[in-house]
Amino acid sequence: MKITPFTVEQWMNAHETGCRYNLAETCVESLTLAELLDMVGQTDSILDELLPLKMTYGAIEGSDRLRSAIAALYDSATIGNVLVTHGAIGANSLVYQALVGAGDRVVTIVPTYQQHYSIPESLGADVHRLHLRAGNGYLPDLEELRRLVTPATKLIAFSNPNNPTGSLMDRVFLDEIVRIAASVGAYILSDEVYRGTTQEGDTLTESVADLYPRGISTGSMSKTFSLAGLRLGWICGPAEVLRAAEVHRDYNTISVGILDDLFSSVALENRDKILARSRSLVRRNLATLDRWMKSENALSYVKPRGGTISLLHYSYDMASRDFCARLLNETGVLFTPGSAFEVEGCVRIGYANNHAILEEGLRHTSGFLRRLGITRGRGPE
Ligand SMILES: Cc1ncc(COP(=O)(O)O)c(C=O)c1O
Repeated sequence: MKITPFTVEQWMNAHETGCRYNLAETCVESLTLAELLDMVGQTDSILDELLPLKMTYGAIEGSDRLRSAIAALYDSATIGNVLVTHGAIGANSLVYQALVGAGDRVVTIVPTYQQHYSIPESLGADVHRLHLRAGNGYLPDLEELRRLVTPATKLIAFSNPNNPTGSLMDRVFLDEIVRIAASVGAYILSDEVYRGTTQEGDTLTESVADLYPRGISTGSMSKTFSLAGLRLGWICGPAEVLRAAEVHRDYNTISVGILDDLFSSVALENRDKILARSRSLVRRNLATLDRWMKSENALSYVKPRGGTISLLHYSYDMASRDFCARLLNETGVLFTPGSAFEVEGCVRIGYANNHAILEEGLRHTSGFLRRLGITRGRGPE
């Protein structure tokens, strides 16, 4: 299978370990194992669970304990609706492998995580992109969606909250998309790795898996739960989709690591504590970013409603990759170029990393913007 290189992952692979101020990070600041165990009160007892574990492949679909904890993130799911995967990246791949073939029509709302168009394209699908626009608050134009979704449409895909813009489709909006999908019997794949990082409210926002019999939600421990090192994700969806995904999973996963399964279970059984930490971190950090944005008149953005990321538009005539490379060279600050999402004139910030890193990174970026204005002999347009 031939596939286009994954631009955002290549950028991160090349730069994220060498930069000084990582403002490209998309996880809510990752936890150490010590922090996790302290938070859930299991520092002294965890060895009793770990030491007797026999290092087998473990439960192939994920342990019942873990799948119950994942199902509890949804209103209507049981463990029969949950399949454990290698991160959300594994979950998304499996859904496409299971459902999409050559010639199938797929509608993908972009910008988004590149898996959602490059994988179906590599499978020979007829992929149609619906472009989000800042003027609409980065919410999809539903009329346009109605035009793009035809009786031949197999699947509609999006990320919610959206990566890279941080827009959030609420219940009313999702109901409209469900109506459009249901009118032609299409599946909906909603990549919900950022679910739970909203700026308002203290409950999880609605999932497509609870709203539509053909709704599929993918999620993981990486972003909202701050445990990307576990490399653990899931598909929550109709049983027939999981069975089809399992056919492929037997070839590329077998099972996930049993340590990842155990620590994910521990974390999700205490999800309220982790979610409270994540909400507090994304809200504090976005307030810092928002103050900074107001002080930088070369930049503008649509303030995110969820997630850990946002697109910052700049008014310099410069390719986003050059902007990011020069910023990184001169200051050690890492952003992600908009070009990694096929949009120009902007960079993606991940603002949910450590607060001190965010503040320092923004301070150095301000200095860079001043120099950019002077050396180019012009200020922002
Ligand atoms: C929208 C989205 N989906 C999926 C992933 C993959 O996440 P993971 O495999 O760590 O769960 C990412 C990572 O950046 C993402 O942003």
